[in-house]
Amino acid sequence: MQSNQVRILVIDHEESNSLGKMLQSKNYETIVVTSINEALKTLLQEAFAVIVIHELLNTETTKVFACGKSWLQTPIIFIANANDFINFDPEIGICDFIMKPINPVLVQGKVNVFVEIYKKQRELERKQLFLEHKLSLLQGSYKELEEKVDEKTQENHRLKNEILHMDRLQKVGEIAAGIAHEIRNPMTTVLGFLQLSVRGTVQQTPKNIIHLMIDELTRANSIISEYLNLAKIQEFHVHEVDLNKVITAIHPLIQAEAILSEKNVILQLEENCFIMIDDKEIRQLILNLSLNGLEAMEANGNLLVRTYVERDEVVLVVQDEGVGIEEKIMDKISTPFFTTKENGTGLGLAICYQIAEHHNATIEVETSKKGTSFFVRFPRVK
Ligand SMILES: Nc1ncnc2c1ncn2[C@@H]1O[C@H](COP(=O)(O)OP(=O)(O)OP(=O)(O)O)[C@@H](O)[C@H]1O
Ligand SMILES: [Mg+2]
Repeated sequence: MQSNQVRILVIDHEESNSLGKMLQSKNYETIVVTSINEALKTLLQEAFAVIVIHELLNTETTKVFACGKSWLQTPIIFIANANDFINFDPEIGICDFIMKPINPVLVQGKVNVFVEIYKKQRELERKQLFLEHKLSLLQGSYKELEEKVDEKTQENHRLKNEILHMDRLQKVGEIAAGIAHEIRNPMTTVLGFLQLSVRGTVQQTPKNIIHLMIDELTRANSIISEYLNLAKIQEFHVHEVDLNKVITAIHPLIQAEAILSEKNVILQLEENCFIMIDDKEIRQLILNLSLNGLEAMEANGNLLVRTYVERDEVVLVVQDEGVGIEEKIMDKISTPFFTTKENGTGLGLAICYQIAEHHNATIEVETSKKGTSFFVRFPRVK
């Protein structure tokens, strides 16, 4: 608000208007009236920073001001003789008293203070209005943002569902490809036994081998059933198992494959290799690693399957004396469908890595021209 818009009201019945003249200033406009009636009319029309009343503190004046609450918010400076202040009603809103004789510096000083307060109040009101305006704008944008967040949340939800759906489709595809591999291993092993029997290398197939063949075929069958069940991801059943037991159970299958290609399988199993596993999956992992080892070796090569405990881990090592893995393909071997073999599907290791991940296990590879070792480290059950 501009200073020239600030007004003060002087009510002075004296003809000389000396008070009005005394209160002329650049800071405000001085309106002078000579009676309370006239003052009331003026007060109804305009706002004032302060009212200065000169010698009108009689009963009539007091009553009029006492009932006019709305303008009593305007501070009043009363100038009168000391006697006039006796019996004065403090309720009427007078803020300040100045006793006569009038000291111009005092009157001007007090008026200036009230004018400053008035200006500050207007400034605050203006700021408050501005803030309220800003607040309403912000509330508007907040609402808009809220709507946008809602919209995005819904979209996000929809996208998540879509991704889940796509993920499922991808898994369906992966499993379809994986099936070929999963079934190939048991088939190869069973086939190996049958060929050995036909060749007459094994005179009479021992019962436990027949049971293992049945087990493997049943497993292949269950894999197909699972896939037909809308490619449902294989259920994962972990329980505490001695890793050595899984190895000894799968050993005849590996052995059969080794005999066929004239290689040896050596087991070196340390005690107390208890881990939390899904044994079906770990059988698959051991088989895949062992077949890779056997396939990498020439005849008479030795495949060592070893277990040991190291700190909080149980370590499975599948070590061959094969050709080794070339440095340039090392980062590709775990990629699905990567193979250097004519009849390979390239899924063996991809599945191993997936199985290891399921079991919070890690796989490390050490390779050279003398052979390759796969270290699978499982968290140990104490
Ligand atoms: N022990 C190993 N020695 C040498 N190379 C290996 C060994 N293990 C894996 N590899 C290399 O990694 C590739 C990928 O192996 P992976 O088991 O995934 O597929 P694959 O053996 O080719 O086919 P399959 O799906 O029949 O197992 C192999 O083709 C081979 O080049
Ligand atoms: Mg393989």
